[in-house]
Amino acid sequence: MAELVLERVNPNKALWEKGDFTRIADTMRESGEDLVATLGIEPGIKVLDLGCGDGTTALPAAELGATVTGVDIAANLVAAGNERAASAGLANIRFQEGDASDLRCFHAGTFDLVVSIFGAMFAPRPLDVAKEMVRVAKPGGRIVMPIGEPHEVQSLIKVTKQEDGSLKREDLGGVRFVPLIGKEGFRDSGSEALVRSLADK
Ligand SMILES: C[S@@+](CC[C@H](N)C(=O)[O-])C[C@H]1O[C@@H](n2cnc3c(N)ncnc32)[C@H](O)[C@@H]1O
Repeated sequence: MAELVLERVNPNKALWEKGDFTRIADTMRESGEDLVATLGIEPGIKVLDLGCGDGTTALPAAELGATVTGVDIAANLVAAGNERAASAGLANIRFQEGDASDLRCFHAGTFDLVVSIFGAMFAPRPLDVAKEMVRVAKPGGRIVMPIGEPHEVQSLIKVTKQEDGSLKREDLGGVRFVPLIGKEGFRDSGSEALVRSLADK
């Protein structure tokens, strides 16, 4: 008798695996490098790049000597990131599949820098994402991501997790996300709520 197999589909994952974001990412390498150059990355620091795609910011961070973990929900982009890292001969970076709203595979206080450049904002449970970013950052560690209205210039913010667990927020300037909506079929699914949750801290 045939066996019935029910597979639960994660719509967020299905959405990003549907297109080939690497083609768009190819046009963003220079801006990724420029942005990473402003983040004060020193050799040996531990960096988590959430919603890393195929490594537009993760690879330059590794090239500066950081030990980088890239997490992305899309298996095809994780594979593309690992291929790019191998082609660049980088041994200090790995890409893995995961959801920015559930980072239980990482211990609390693991990373010196948690960065998400127009990545984690697409996760459907933004409050969970914000909590997880703070949890996995080391005391003294930094969280960097753009926040603001999705279709306007956003603020690149740096949140420092103080030794006592409180958060200090600084504004690093304006950045713009070009929404991948319309014929590409991508959908913005949560950035406003994430903005609110970080703004409330
Ligand atoms: C606009 S792309 C940005 C990629 C990369 N940060 C860059 O700058 O090239 C958004 C990325 O977020 C990823 N993403 C969407 N939802 C996610 C989630 N819940 N957890 C982790 N990654 C997610 C997508 O797969 C995609 O790679």
